[in-house]
Amino acid sequence: MPAEPVNVNEFQQLAKEAIPKMYYDFYAGGAEDEFSLKENMEAFRRITLRPRVLVDVSRIDLSTTVLGFPISAPIMIAPTALHKLAHPEGEVATAKAAAACNTIMVLSFTSTCTVEEVASSCKAVRFFQLYVYKRRDVAAVLVQRAERNGYKALVLTVDVPRLGRREADIKNNMIAPQLKNLDGLFSTQVESDKGSNMERFANQTLDASLRWEDIAWLRSITNLPIIIKGILTGEDAIKAAEVGVAGIVVSNHGARQLDYSPATISVLEEVVHATKGKIPVLFDGGVRRGTDVFKALALGAQAVLVGRPVIFGLAAKGEAGVRRVIEMLKNELELTMALSGCPRVKDITRSHVRTEKDRLH
Ligand code: FNR
Repeated sequence: MPAEPVNVNEFQQLAKEAIPKMYYDFYAGGAEDEFSLKENMEAFRRITLRPRVLVDVSRIDLSTTVLGFPISAPIMIAPTALHKLAHPEGEVATAKAAAACNTIMVLSFTSTCTVEEVASSCKAVRFFQLYVYKRRDVAAVLVQRAERNGYKALVLTVDVPRLGRREADIKNNMIAPQLKNLDGLFSTQVESDKGSNMERFANQTLDASLRWEDIAWLRSITNLPIIIKGILTGEDAIKAAEVGVAGIVVSNHGARQLDYSPATISVLEEVVHATKGKIPVLFDGGVRRGTDVFKALALGAQAVLVGRPVIFGLAAKGEAGVRRVIEMLKNELELTMALSGCPRVKDITRSHVRTEKDRLH
């Protein structure tokens, strides 16, 4: 029997052994050269910590809030597609783990359990991630269903006007299953005997004409707060604040879209400065350690979202695996805060990290 993992990275190998290669490659892979995929993690390594001593750290409080919703730690579950390819219970297992860890799960639009199934299995606060298709009525239906089923916010993903080129999926002739939320609306199966059928489906279906002006349309069909996911520049952060969304996620989609987009941690501070504190900034990309969470908070993120480690935990050990992944990150963050002299999340400040830019000055 393989040894129990002692950190979230060790779940990756277990996941690789647990599921078919085509699915593992789909989860693990990035776009084209996978430069940004490596950079998302490498850039964290170039940031060091500036710990303070002789602070009372006998009690560490990880709790925080996101859009006013209390969570046990600033670590949330990112929206990721197709959880049933990792484990038969799919997103329901992930949602149960989120509830057990008292954190927020963002359910992917492209899930293999429905909005309703996940809602009835999970008491925790849930957000719903949205893609906008050419057929806008589909988004409208899904938004209504999310509202009816108690999802508390919409996370509009804006970095997929077309699908990035994921070469592993092309080589594997990746075939995605029917997307459960779209049952009865339309078939997500497209004819293709070569390449990634997901890429073909996405490119036929996604509305590549979506613009900033369309946020008003989305607002007109929902009362839920809207978070924009996929911001990488100060310019777009300013626009997001101007159109009045409830928050943004600094994200390069786990490096699955535009290769050579910057490591997300390297642009977080630029984005935070641009928002001037007007809207909360969430963060994802490459978070694998409690120290990574700490660094993102120090650079101004309110919380981080975790993608692949959650899927690897799910593939390796189902709900218990996801729980373990979140607990490991929480435990590591708690220790990092203790060793850095930060008893509460709000004690983590810019002066607790040294970035490459700081070293140049
Ligand atoms: C994703 N991501 C994603 N994002 C989104 O808005 N909707 C989605 O359906 C998906 N699907 C998806 C599938 C897989 C397999 C991965 C790895 C990622 C992106 C995700 O929300 C998040 O931005 C990244 O996963 C964060 O990077 P890490 O934590 O995986 O390094």
